[in-house]
Amino acid sequence: MKIETILTPAELPALAKRDLRGAACVVFDVLRATSAFVTALHRGAKAIVPVSEIAEALAIRQKQPDVLLGGERDGVRIRVPQTGGGDFDLGNSPREYTPEKVRGKTIVSTTTNGTRALRACAGAKMVLAASFLNLAATAEFIKKIRPEQVLLVCAGTYENTALEDVLAAGALCEILLDKPLTPALAPLGRGEGVLQMSDSAEIAWRTYLQAKPDLTGAVQSSKNARRLLSIPELRDDVSFCLQQNIFPLVAGMDAEGTVCRQ
Ligand code: MLT
Repeated sequence: MKIETILTPAELPALAKRDLRGAACVVFDVLRATSAFVTALHRGAKAIVPVSEIAEALAIRQKQPDVLLGGERDGVRIRVPQTGGGDFDLGNSPREYTPEKVRGKTIVSTTTNGTRALRACAGAKMVLAASFLNLAATAEFIKKIRPEQVLLVCAGTYENTALEDVLAAGALCEILLDKPLTPALAPLGRGEGVLQMSDSAEIAWRTYLQAKPDLTGAVQSSKNARRLLSIPELRDDVSFCLQQNIFPLVAGMDAEGTVCRQ
């Protein structure tokens, strides 16, 4: 199994052109899109439909009035000035996705980076939405399926790499590597027919190993975390999204572009 990490959003256009038929893409947007999607599915949402543009979301709502509209621009809920009609029903804070609001619902979501990254993987054999909230479940699923190639896709923040996504990708590498203590003690199997880590995967894994003793501190230094921490009603999203393995579910995107529990 070859592991590679897409570290920046700048690589997404090239990814969309690659032959991904043998690949499993694992998309990370820890703050906050994939964390929100996994939370919504755990709390009973039927499906998430990630779209890139606000107009796409409004067009789906036109045809399917029952869907909920969610997402963000500049971290906050999309409202009248951006829609030319009503406010979206939800922002992108996973804490907003309560069972009362989302149970049995389909949520059409557009965000700055997360939904774009999911869309860029549309041609892959398998597309998973992952976060710290469901990391172990996602890793077990990959170990069971054993795809030839695993692409860890870090959604990023605007056009830049997001530290929190790279750390989550590195944490997933650690589980797939069966928990080596330090790089030097990594099992011999690595790179020899079992798990072939590309340099981009090594970068994610070693960055995670460095940050692991104080993961919260590391994530709080990231651009998007600092933005969220500066907004009183959104600051608790950072600690929420850093919880590990509280939702034992696998979120997969099907060929129609709908994300559901696997
Ligand atoms: C994104 O997709 O760009 C992020 O999830 C944005 C956010 O929620 O702050």
